[in-house]
Amino acid sequence: MKHLSTIFILCLVLGMASLGIGQELFGDPQEGKSIYMHHCVNCHGKNGDGQGPDTKFLTVKPADFHSDESRSKTDWELMTTITFGVAFSPMHGWANRLNEQERWDVLSYIRLMAPFNPIT
Ligand code: HEC
Repeated sequence: MKHLSTIFILCLVLGMASLGIGQELFGDPQEGKSIYMHHCVNCHGKNGDGQGPDTKFLTVKPADFHSDESRSKTDWELMTTITFGVAFSPMHGWANRLNEQERWDVLSYIRLMAPFNPIT
């Protein structure tokens, strides 16, 4: 019985570690790049600065992923935006077009261009 509880605690600790208190990339940035170039580049721009060619038609401008504001958001915050979109903005949710893995992939590509940077 003693062993069982040790194993239980070990699993708990490993489980917590893998939940990623630190920022981890869950996606494949290479896959993410092709998704990005297909679906996101016209608004968010080739290097993620929010200057894509379609922005001239938009009143709400796309986020610049290199801004302090975007970089200080956690993966979970950005993932929520990618999944559900932003109300009253051209950024609609992608849950019906990209599956969860694809959303992680594209997020990991964004994080490759503009790494997470918590502002203290
Ligand atoms: C039609 C233009 C358009 C397209 C296409 C588009 N976005 Fe956006 N996106 C926006 C706009 C506009 C905002 C900013 C909304 C706001 O002001 O909060 C935004 C915001 C975001 C944010 C939040 C950034 C932050 O700092 O909170 C993420 C992440 C994001 N987009 C990812 C994507 C991904 C990934 C794709 C492709 C799958 C994509 N977007 C496609 C227009 C677009």
